[in-house]
Amino acid sequence: MTKNLFIAFEGIDGSGKSTQVKLLTQKLEESGHKVYATFEPTDSPIGKMIRDIFSGRMEADHKVIAGLFVADRLDHLLNKNNGVLKMLEEGYTVITDRYYFSSYAYHSPYMSMDWVIEANKLSAELLRPDINIYIDISAEESMHRIAKGRTSTELYETLDNLKQVKNLYAEAFEKLKDVEKIASINGERTEVEIAADVWKIVADL
Ligand code: ADP
Ligand code: TYD
Repeated sequence: MTKNLFIAFEGIDGSGKSTQVKLLTQKLEESGHKVYATFEPTDSPIGKMIRDIFSGRMEADHKVIAGLFVADRLDHLLNKNNGVLKMLEEGYTVITDRYYFSSYAYHSPYMSMDWVIEANKLSAELLRPDINIYIDISAEESMHRIAKGRTSTELYETLDNLKQVKNLYAEAFEKLKDVEKIASINGERTEVEIAADVWKIVADL
């Protein structure tokens, strides 16, 4: 098994995940590491199907979406060209913007969280993150940032839903605290302050 780190960023929409992935990538590269930064939903055909559903170009039941994410995640790990497992073996530190905790939080309103965890069991067995870094912001702050005009996926972005997703993240972290490494960071500070906390966590690993 590889010794390179696999780091997953989690948080509700607009929490600052991609900003922090970028900053951490720079910092690790400056320290001499090879870094592969990636994200879910991926840009594979399955990920594209998910984005088409989010943007309203395609229609699908929430249970189908949860199933598509299971498949997208397995392809994210196992893809022969640029799968995460291959990149780790090639010596890259891998940072992902979202992994299976996103599924636990976003799909549990539509089926039991245990079902979602079970459905993602193969991914968890293939690769658990060395650390899940949760960037914690309120649903109100999330809506505020989304309204400021970034390109966004609309399906799950209402205040009530984001509140629910935030609560479900907390429930998932509590449920899995004995098997997963989880760090929660206050995301309602400057990007630089958050990045400093992220760096402390990663440097410890
Ligand atoms: P995510 O990937 O979680 O959706 P982004 O990194 O894209 O989040 O950030 C969402 C929006 O919030 C962007 O407009 C970004 O510039 C802004 N943003 C990121 N981090 C912060 C922060 N610490 N404070 C205020 N705004 C932020
Ligand atoms: P993302 O592109 O990371 O959006 P954002 O930058 O707003 O966080 O994710 C797109 C959406 O996909 C987001 O609303 C969360 C959702 N999602 C799920 O519903 N299940 C999942 O397993 C994942 C990885 C994401």
